[in-house]
Amino acid sequence: MTKKSIVRNVCPLFFVAWLTLMGMPLRAQNVTVSKALFRQGDDKNWALPDVDDSSWSEIDITTPWDKQGFPQNTNAYGWYRIHLTIPNSVFQGADQQNALIFHLPKADDVDECFLNGKLIGSTGRMPTNPAGYFGAVNDVRNYVVDIKKDGLRLDAENVIAVRVYNRGGSGGLFGQPLTITCPRAADGLSMSLTDENDGASRCDVEINNAYSTATSGTFAVTLTDRETGAQISSLTKKLSIKRGKPVRLSVPYDKHQMCLLTATYSDAKTGKVLTESKQLKYILTPAAPATPRFNGAPVWGVRPGSPVIYRFPVTGERPMKFTCSNLPAGLQLTESGVLSGKIDRAGDLTFTVVAENDKGRAQQDFTLKVGADKIGQTPPMGWNSWNCWGLTVTQEKVISSAQALIDKGLADYGYSYINIDDGWEAPTRNADGTLDANEKFPSMKGLVDWLHERGLKFGIYSAPGATSCGGYLGSLGYEKEDAEVWNRWGVDYLKYDWCSYERVREEENDWGFASCLRPYLLMQKYLRQQPRDIFYSLGPLGGTQVYLWGIYCDGNSWRTAQDINDTWKSIYDVGFRQQAGLSKYSSIGHWNDPDMLVVGKVGYGLGENTNGLRETRLTPDEQYTHITLWTLVSSNMLIGCDIAQMDDFTLGLLCNNEVNAIDQDLLGKQADRVLKEGDIEVWSRPLADGAIAVGIFNVGEKDLQVDMKALINSQCIINNSQYSTIRDLWRQKNLSEDTLKCKIPPHGCRYLKVF
Ligand code: GLA
Repeated sequence: MTKKSIVRNVCPLFFVAWLTLMGMPLRAQNVTVSKALFRQGDDKNWALPDVDDSSWSEIDITTPWDKQGFPQNTNAYGWYRIHLTIPNSVFQGADQQNALIFHLPKADDVDECFLNGKLIGSTGRMPTNPAGYFGAVNDVRNYVVDIKKDGLRLDAENVIAVRVYNRGGSGGLFGQPLTITCPRAADGLSMSLTDENDGASRCDVEINNAYSTATSGTFAVTLTDRETGAQISSLTKKLSIKRGKPVRLSVPYDKHQMCLLTATYSDAKTGKVLTESKQLKYILTPAAPATPRFNGAPVWGVRPGSPVIYRFPVTGERPMKFTCSNLPAGLQLTESGVLSGKIDRAGDLTFTVVAENDKGRAQQDFTLKVGADKIGQTPPMGWNSWNCWGLTVTQEKVISSAQALIDKGLADYGYSYINIDDGWEAPTRNADGTLDANEKFPSMKGLVDWLHERGLKFGIYSAPGATSCGGYLGSLGYEKEDAEVWNRWGVDYLKYDWCSYERVREEENDWGFASCLRPYLLMQKYLRQQPRDIFYSLGPLGGTQVYLWGIYCDGNSWRTAQDINDTWKSIYDVGFRQQAGLSKYSSIGHWNDPDMLVVGKVGYGLGENTNGLRETRLTPDEQYTHITLWTLVSSNMLIGCDIAQMDDFTLGLLCNNEVNAIDQDLLGKQADRVLKEGDIEVWSRPLADGAIAVGIFNVGEKDLQVDMKALINSQCIINNSQYSTIRDLWRQKNLSEDTLKCKIPPHGCRYLKVF
């Protein structure tokens, strides 16, 4: 043991001895350490106990390394080593004799902790991890050490080595000191609730015991109706839970009812009670009828001479046959409802499309608007790879979501763009300056043809700078080549992200608006030269308001906020805080875009699961609020999850024809906030049929009682005498007077159409 470490270990040993001498009953002791030996750099051998660390520096583990005179380097590793004698007496009086918990400080950003050379725990993912880097600065790091299996030496020296990776900024261990405690009998218990909503709905409750001593106790679960507070069902069970043998119980529930599940486990010996509650997913959207129903806006815009690709979004039993008796020359309609062809002259062409199946028939008067400025008549609906796959996107994953978009019926609601985000680009350009896809996309042309055959459209991603946000090649200097290749592939949508273009502005020291417009105008020039329509979506610029000038670049949409993620904080910031006041910048063909949807299974390719996905962290109420606000503000409706894994609840959120109709409304007037009273916000917009869409949101943390009629009237959204109907859009039901006073749960909403 080195001199320095002896000093550090005196305290707990002395304390135990002192208690013994005083004749006091011994209780399990905690060991606390706040100093270590430290070295920057990385060598896996530094995990081993007998490394000579005598030349290492002493460091305080409660403060980042850069605050103690060590360089603040990015993308860097540092190692901490602690020599520690843990006395046998640490277990005296302890409930559990066979485990210790190492409570580590926090780590900026990822750590791996070794005990005498053996890995005992890790939080986050190192950059070398095949699943990709994952920073976890603020996560709790409690590592359980099994006395028999993990090589702990009692009454002898142990070496605890912690490898820390820092991505940038401050680095290293920080926060509280290292504490080693003996677990109490029920300390190893944990409970998790998983809501399974595909087909039959059930909530799985799993209770785990991390320690060797089995515990027994009573498990109780109750299901309550959240609206009425009435108990729906309950169950009580005696259980014994052994290490490594989690107990799982499935609680079935009705997915059309708003249920709250509360599960409790009381440990018989210690009286410790674990409680978890979960608001279960609830489906408000009524099932579509078996008869044909047109769900899309009755309009599509195309430039003269550009190919038309439009799949009629119609629900109803299949097989279904589409016909049109007055189809304009130049267009074709397949029996399965895919419109194609091209029209050379500008003008509006209206025709009637009929859909028929065994159960009945429906028709829609549809207008094809042909003109140079007709792209994006309604906000685009579809899918983008980023929020689920991030940079791990592949051709196979894209096809899988596209196939599921058809199979699960989302295409029948108008979702038609399949867009690849960053991560498709080859590492170098060809000699002629063109850029191919990388090995993850063996045939981009094949993929696009596959989509077009099905009436779906294809979107791609690039950036005006030398590199994209994800570090792939950007279009700088090759705008023309890129636009031409995309035309050859059949691209219908371009997301053009700002990212590294900031460097060009820095080099030119040009910070005016003109320097923002320049790269976007340049790409627009080449896009519009292509003989096909490419919806032009502009990315966000840090600190610059694209919505102020996006229209001058002929952008069809522009981001109005930073990147979204699947947390309430993000929905609140991106949605409520940053969209208010922006309605004046949105118009037909030029939409505000508060970023892609974060419902379903997402993860940006960084999630903790092996496939990189996790269930969205938004509660069901927050997800209703997300879709309600996004459709109110005429957002691009780009699904961000893996559609192949989409459950019934998420389908209900995305496939409500009355809700989607607000986003796609032909008046094209985005909603704005008309009232903010405490935690209640009201957003509304006028609609093409003279009605008003109103979203009432509770952005606070408690249930709030609201009088919906009073809110509608008080805001002069509509004059009392002028309307007779208030319709609940999610439930697709007109509301009676006695249901207009209601409770809105935290982060929840009501979505109304008033006419
Ligand atoms: C930016 C964008 C995201 C995504 C990534 C890709 O962060 O805002 O939506 O496209 O780049 O690298």
